[in-house]
Amino acid sequence: MSNQNLIKPDSFGSEQGDVNTGQNRKKYWERNLSEEAKSICARDNKYFLHQNLSTPVMNVLSKTHGIYIEDIEGKKYMDMHGNGVHNAGFNNPEIIQAVKEQLDSQMTFTPRRYTNAKAVDLAQKLAEIAPGDLCKSLFCPGGSEAIEMAITLAKQVTGHFKTISFWDSFHGAGFAAASVGGEELFKGGMGPMMPGAMHVEFPNYYRNPWGFESQEEVDNEYLRQIKTILEREPGVAAIIGEPISATPVVPSKNYWEGVRDLCERYGTLIIFDEIIEGFGRTGKMFASEHLITPDVLVLGKSMGGGLLPFAGIVTKNKFDNLEHRSIGHYTHEKNGLCATAALAEIEYIEKNSLVDNAAKVGAYTMSRLEELKEKHPLIGNIAGVGLHMGIDLVKDSITKERANEAADSIMYKAMERGLAFKTIEGNIITLRPALTITMGQMDQVVDILDEAIGEVENGNYY
Ligand SMILES: Cc1ncc(COP(=O)(O)O)c(C=O)c1O
Repeated sequence: MSNQNLIKPDSFGSEQGDVNTGQNRKKYWERNLSEEAKSICARDNKYFLHQNLSTPVMNVLSKTHGIYIEDIEGKKYMDMHGNGVHNAGFNNPEIIQAVKEQLDSQMTFTPRRYTNAKAVDLAQKLAEIAPGDLCKSLFCPGGSEAIEMAITLAKQVTGHFKTISFWDSFHGAGFAAASVGGEELFKGGMGPMMPGAMHVEFPNYYRNPWGFESQEEVDNEYLRQIKTILEREPGVAAIIGEPISATPVVPSKNYWEGVRDLCERYGTLIIFDEIIEGFGRTGKMFASEHLITPDVLVLGKSMGGGLLPFAGIVTKNKFDNLEHRSIGHYTHEKNGLCATAALAEIEYIEKNSLVDNAAKVGAYTMSRLEELKEKHPLIGNIAGVGLHMGIDLVKDSITKERANEAADSIMYKAMERGLAFKTIEGNIITLRPALTITMGQMDQVVDILDEAIGEVENGNYY
């Protein structure tokens, strides 16, 4: 069967982000990019391999600072995406200072077989702040690799090889990470992925296909499906998921407790991908704290202080029994410079109460978004926790048909007003600003959205 004939989900082609090949993108370039920006984009286009989501690009940046990205004309945009690295704000001066001092100290890269004080300080700090009894760390350059370390650990300690994860999820572009991810974009045309990688749906209350009205009914149905797999496909090493989905869908505590009970019964580990949600994003230091403690916590993105690539896993003492195997033998496993950035980021978050700020500003923004929902029929649902929010745009509140065209138009209209965000699954506007953002700045964000949504509702598309 040709790829064309496959029946595709309605979020197909716009799973992780907005479409970078549409007509609106071309109009945006024409209307906004200077000749210099166009010429840099053209060279980007010429020398980078094209791939969905990255090249061609939106615009050319000259700098990023605080909650802002800035283009080469000096136009500032409040950035609601930041790829999740900007928890302490872009180019945070205190983190930069710590990294500069570490560079000057000459304790940066550390060959394997040695350690350095900063790497050990970071592992100790994570043991202190990670939820429950998570206390043993291993680091690596990126999130995808950290996910693969978590999967390897789970396979080695359980002696099983299968996994259960979630459709529509993203856990990285590496082979095992893409295998447990739930997106065609990363798996299509690849042939067999990691053996035993099975998928279920995330408990989506707003978009549950049975029309259940209570959370409990939705939870029970999804738990029933997981139980069936665990019973009929014995030997599942791990269930891997973000505790709260990227869209976001915030599952009930009851759901994750149910998953944990099943996992305990079947000898399966729980791996939480907090690569986006860790370090304060959801109004707790780790999203797990709203729900349950996993067996393995996976961290990344803002762990590099927004400056450097760094990621890792934190797990339980009882799983520290693999001296005979290698789980993640990465060159930069104990890079002192990356560890310094991570420590400075955590220190900044703690010192400036950014976790509380995320909780407070997030709750305030959610209340303002609820007001917008009352006003705009395009808004089908608002979801989120802390500074991790999503607005689900629909053509019809009963059918919940995704309003992809409207979302795309709103995104470009907002860009022109100085607000950048990413859409996900085609129709969901995601808002994940730096945790330093104020209520006043979030008011500006909501006001821009209000205007742009209103224009599109009046038929004035981009
Ligand atoms: C939830 C989640 N997991 C994993 C990854 C992969 O991280 P990296 O790009 O550092 O490999 C990402 C990146 O976007 C992510 O959002």
